Amino acid sequence: MNVINGRGGLPMLPIQTPWSTAEIYLQGACVTHFQLHGEAPLLFLSERSRFEANAPIRGGIPIIFPWFGKPSGRTTQHGFARTRPWELIDVAKQPDDTVLARLSLPPASELPGVALEYHVTVGRSLSVELVATNYSDANVALENCLHTYFTVGDIHKVKLTGLQGVHYLDCVGTRVTRTEVDPALNVSSEVDRIYFDSPQTVHIHDPELRRIIHIEKQHSHSTVVWNPWQAKAQLLTDFGDDEYLRMVCVESGNVASNHLTLAPGADSRLRAQFHSSAM
Ligand code: BG6
Repeated sequence: MNVINGRGGLPMLPIQTPWSTAEIYLQGACVTHFQLHGEAPLLFLSERSRFEANAPIRGGIPIIFPWFGKPSGRTTQHGFARTRPWELIDVAKQPDDTVLARLSLPPASELPGVALEYHVTVGRSLSVELVATNYSDANVALENCLHTYFTVGDIHKVKLTGLQGVHYLDCVGTRVTRTEVDPALNVSSEVDRIYFDSPQTVHIHDPELRRIIHIEKQHSHSTVVWNPWQAKAQLLTDFGDDEYLRMVCVESGNVASNHLTLAPGADSRLRAQFHSSAM
């Protein structure tokens, strides 16, 4: 398995396993594709995504780090990790026939003393791990998030479970804190929510594609649910007008009041595993 020229001439690592295929762009270490043989792609990738240096990819799993959104004083949204070229450390078939690719982000002047690695395991499921290590002699505050775009058959029929009873910040319009009352959340308009203190597994029930996607995570205290819906989709230049019907983002990380503080010598290991079962 070697790096080849992908879309826009950007370096891309294609991966094959006995069960699945995957693609990882070194730009942002973005996993843009994961698909089990005989199933629809698990990850959504916009047909309008840019594949350009210094631009985020619209789909797959952009890595949000070391800040989420655009805090005051920052000029770029969602940090710099998703737009930088990463380096492939190695890629190797494991004894169980899964494939492990490890990538690292070259030192960033914005965050000296912090090293970032990303480990992607492809097999019957897709597992990712973002490792940030603080080599400096001071505490470092950071946010991280795996901004995962999932393919769904028809958003109108999709239900999300696993978030009932969780407090969230509703980011559509004036920001308001609420509690999720729905045992099964239906996305029927723009959704942009940060669910706090939510380490539990979230499930995407998709009757159209006859599958349930399971999002398991470790060291993630926040879950972000996002769908731009029709009007906002039309404002996004790198997203098709109707693509909101076929995707939903369920993001795993530590953001806002769940942000992390890394002590000198400490590391954080944000992990997520994605797999599907028949419905
Ligand atoms: C989500 C945010 O994580 O990402 C939304 O909660 C944002 O507010 C969305 O609109 C997409 O962000 P971007 O920068 O990729 O367009």
